[in-house]
Amino acid sequence: RPRVLSGIQPTAGSFHLGNYLGAVRQWVALQDTHDAFYMVVDLHAITIPQDPAALRSNTRLAVAQLLAAGLDPERCTLFVQSHVPEHAQLAWVMNCLTGFGEAGRMTQFKDKSAKQGSDSTTVGLFTYPVLQVADILLYQADQVPVGGDQRQHVELTRDLAERFNGRFGHTFTVPAPYILKETAKILDLQDPAVKMSKSASTPKGLVNLLDDPKATAKKVKSAVTDTETVIRYDPEAKPGVSNLLTIMSVLTGTSVADLEKSYEGKMYGALKTDLAEVMVDFATPFKDRTQEYLDDPETLDSILAKGAEKARAVAAETLAQTYAKVGFLPAK
Ligand code: TYM
Repeated sequence: RPRVLSGIQPTAGSFHLGNYLGAVRQWVALQDTHDAFYMVVDLHAITIPQDPAALRSNTRLAVAQLLAAGLDPERCTLFVQSHVPEHAQLAWVMNCLTGFGEAGRMTQFKDKSAKQGSDSTTVGLFTYPVLQVADILLYQADQVPVGGDQRQHVELTRDLAERFNGRFGHTFTVPAPYILKETAKILDLQDPAVKMSKSASTPKGLVNLLDDPKATAKKVKSAVTDTETVIRYDPEAKPGVSNLLTIMSVLTGTSVADLEKSYEGKMYGALKTDLAEVMVDFATPFKDRTQEYLDDPETLDSILAKGAEKARAVAAETLAQTYAKVGFLPAK
């Protein structure tokens, strides 16, 4: 079985629709065909300041949401990044292989650091992508299921894997991104020129899965479209409507072509009303299941303990090989 690895940050509390459609939904599907490793990346979270109590509870909340979305600890390895110390250890080695300029060219770093002053931008944020490289290489992942915004980080991973292998002999699998074209970039409902993200300029454009369903329905109904009236998939000319069609298509399992047919001659309002209902029907049981997992912290802890144990077995092996290749004296 090919191996997949991916991660999600716990910082936002609720996952948003972009996280789910762009990544987590694929994680669930890949459990049956791949040897799957999924984690909540708390080490990445502290690259920007976090309140310790909030970080702890958001980490649990992220795990509960992943289980509610359909991750099954019997079919995948689900763990928290800081429970596996090898991530930080391999990241150090990778830091020493990464060019300063190379790291400086990472667009997510450039975007995030541009919004802060240089003294509130941490060195951790700068090396964030290198930690991600270590995450992926530790598990010898063949594929990395993510949204389109993570493509550059997977490219860096490939470059560093090849660089290490070239310098020290074959050690790491060179991973490929696993990005589904349709859902690679779910757009902000108020500003379909940008991706949906937790740092959206207005909360009205961001659909959080754990939001009150009524609020979600309202956001969908007030989504920005265009001045035409035809319900047609055309991401260039009609990004707003196309985004709604994509979301509807994935959540209902209906092709976009079939949706276009069924909405022929109908107004945007019809699509929005139906999508609002579909969203609420999806989010309501998701929210309930998340709460059930949160209400049972013992089960959650035991899932994470088993996950960390499985993950460490793989990670420790890769780290030991790496240390040997680099020339570290073995500890006796
Ligand atoms: P994070 O937590 O920002 O996002 C989690 C996943 O959601 C995807 N995503 C989207 N997909 C489509 N449309 C959107 N609007 C949208 N917004 C977010 C992201 O692409 C991501 O797949 N750096 C990663 C976490 C990470 C990681 C890893 C991923 C750490 N280590 C190793 C893969 C492998 C991140 O910040 O994801």
